[in-house]
Amino acid sequence: MDLIYHKNELQRVLKERKTTTDIVGFVPTMGSLHQGHLSLINTAIEACDIVVVSIFVNPTQFENVSDLKKYPRRLEEDVNILRKNFNNLIIFAPETEDIYGMNIESVNFEFGKLADKMEGASRIGHYNGVATVLQKLFTIVQPDKAFFGEKDYQQLLIVKKLVDLLNLPIEIIGCPISRQEDGLARSSRNIRLTDEQQKEATFIFKSLLKAKERFNSQNAKSLVEEIEADFRNNPNFELDYFQIVDEENLEPATTYKNGVKYRAFVAAKIGSVRLIDNMVLN
Ligand code: PAJ
Repeated sequence: MDLIYHKNELQRVLKERKTTTDIVGFVPTMGSLHQGHLSLINTAIEACDIVVVSIFVNPTQFENVSDLKKYPRRLEEDVNILRKNFNNLIIFAPETEDIYGMNIESVNFEFGKLADKMEGASRIGHYNGVATVLQKLFTIVQPDKAFFGEKDYQQLLIVKKLVDLLNLPIEIIGCPISRQEDGLARSSRNIRLTDEQQKEATFIFKSLLKAKERFNSQNAKSLVEEIEADFRNNPNFELDYFQIVDEENLEPATTYKNGVKYRAFVAAKIGSVRLIDNMVLN
C-alpha cells in the first residue's frame, strides 16, 4: 500500500511500477470512505493491474463555503479502512495547492443540456468543478479505466461526456449503487444524520420503490405529482426534485417510449443534509 501526497511522487511511482501491458484503474473520491467507495475499488481491482484511489475534497465543486467546510474529512480513518481491506493500492491524497496551485477556479465546459438539469440546476457550477478536478486528476494519473458510482448518475454521464470532449483514452465504468440493509443509499453525508434521521431517510428509497412499482400502471406525470405530494406531506423532508427521465439524456418522461430506459431521480433535504438517490424503473 502506497500513500502518496504529491503528484510528482505519484507519477514517479507509477512510472516505476507500470509495465507496458499493465492496465491502470482509477477511483476518484472525496474520502470519508464507506462500502459504496469500497465496491468501486473492488470492481477496479478485478479489472486492472494497478489501482489508484484519490482522496481529495475538491473545493471548486461546492457552491458555497459552508458546505465545503461541513464536508467530512477523515484521512487517517480512510487510510486505515483501505489498509484493512486491500493489499496493493496506491492512495493519492494531495493538498489543494498540489492540484490547483494558487488558482482555485473552475474551467467552463460545454456539457449542453446534460448539466442544466437536476443537480446541475440545483448546484450552479457544480459540474464544472467536478470536471475541472477530474481533468487534472486524469492528467496526473493517466488511467486506462476510471470507475464511478451510479449513485451520482448525472455525474457519471458528465464524466463520459468530459472524456469525449477532451478525447481522452479512458474507459469510464459505471458501478451499481451500494445501499444499507434498509435501502438508504450509502453516502459520506450520512454520518451527519442523527439516528432518527437515518431511519426517516429511508423514505427516499421508498419513494423510488413506489415509482418502480407503479411505473407500468401509472403515467409519469401523475406518478411524479403523487410522489411530490408524499414529500409535501412528510414534515421531515424538503424536496428539491423528483423526476422520471430518459436515462441516456436525462430528458423528463412525458409518455413512455418503447426501447427507452427510464430512471427516477430524487434530491431532498433532511435537516441540513441534502441527499440524492436514483433507481432504474424498467
Ligand atoms: P464522492 O462523493 O466521494 O464519491 C466517489 C465515488 O463513489 C463516485 O463515483 C460516487 O458516485 C461513488 N459512490 C458514492 N456513494 C456510492 C454508493 N452508495 N454506491 C456506489 N457508488 C457510490 O463523487 C465524488 O466524490 C466527486 O464528485 C469526485 C468524482 C471524486 C470529484 O471530486
